[in-house]
Amino acid sequence: MASVLLGLLLAACLLLLVTGDPIRKPSPNVTVPLVMWHGMGDSCCNPLSLGAISKMIQAQVPGIYVLSLRIGDNVVQDTENGFFMDVNRQVVQVCAQLAQDPRLQGGYNAMGFSQGGQFLRAVAQRCPSPPMKTLISVGGQQQGVYGLPRCPGERSPVCDWIRKALNTEVYTDVVQKHLVQAQYWHDPLQDDLYKKHSVFLADINQERAVNETYKKNLQLLEKFVMVKFLQDTVVDPVATEWFGFLKTGQSKETETLQESLLYKEDRLGLAAMDRAGKLDFLSTAGNHLQFTSQWFTDHLLPYLR
Ligand SMILES: *[C@@H]1O[C@H](CO)[C@@H](O)[C@H](O)[C@H]1NC(C)=O
Ligand SMILES: *[C@@H]1O[C@H](CO)[C@@H](O)[C@H](O)[C@H]1NC(C)=O
Repeated sequence: MASVLLGLLLAACLLLLVTGDPIRKPSPNVTVPLVMWHGMGDSCCNPLSLGAISKMIQAQVPGIYVLSLRIGDNVVQDTENGFFMDVNRQVVQVCAQLAQDPRLQGGYNAMGFSQGGQFLRAVAQRCPSPPMKTLISVGGQQQGVYGLPRCPGERSPVCDWIRKALNTEVYTDVVQKHLVQAQYWHDPLQDDLYKKHSVFLADINQERAVNETYKKNLQLLEKFVMVKFLQDTVVDPVATEWFGFLKTGQSKETETLQESLLYKEDRLGLAAMDRAGKLDFLSTAGNHLQFTSQWFTDHLLPYLR
């Protein structure tokens, strides 16, 4: 996924050369800080992905405090934890980190890339303090996934192991606990198993009893922005990036968020947020996480200023 963003880095560098103003003094931190959570196979500080995005944001929003989350003691652990660390534990760690950061206490905006999008939503639902103001899910899998097409099991032993585990044993306790992607695996053909045994996604999506705290906390957001990549071949189904999913009991037809039971029964407060104009659905051409810096500047930066 790192190489995916090489183009962005180049574009960001060019942009800096063209518009960079080295004598502009950073303004005091009146801008709302930004917390970012990276995607699978990536890390907090990869100079080809989130490192470049941080720099670009800091160049365009002078004085902004950007915290790119690192899960673990170093970048290697951070990357590994994106595959193997219990997501619920990751969320607990992140909540503690945010609560201890003096610069975030007045509130912050959050931007999650790919799986970071649903993980940050869990932070919003579970940890209302400090307050998250706007949540931007960039290609996040809000209703999970059913397929991992870009993890080539034929060539990568890790991908092969993940694929086998997901197909046969995804909802067993041991796989749920130790494989991140299993924790947002959503099998529409095994709906009962998913609802019962998914330790992360079924919980934050209120598939079991409705947790009123989750509903209340999510609605504290000023905006929940979801970005869909129109030519995404990584995320299956792409509808999940706008909180839609496959209809239960089959694996072809999808439904939108608005058509889902989650929305109709408003189990998570999303229908109320929609009516209040708090949900923004954005889309961009391109494959997973392949946006241009111009698109980012035009469509996402306005939420951060
Ligand atoms: C900026 O943030 C620091 C750290 O939290 C704080 O001490 C300082 O007062 C803030 N400055 C302004 C102008 O808000
Ligand atoms: C609801 O969520 C809150 C916040 O994470 C948690 O403390 C509480 O235990 C949950 N309640 C139930 C019934 O699961």
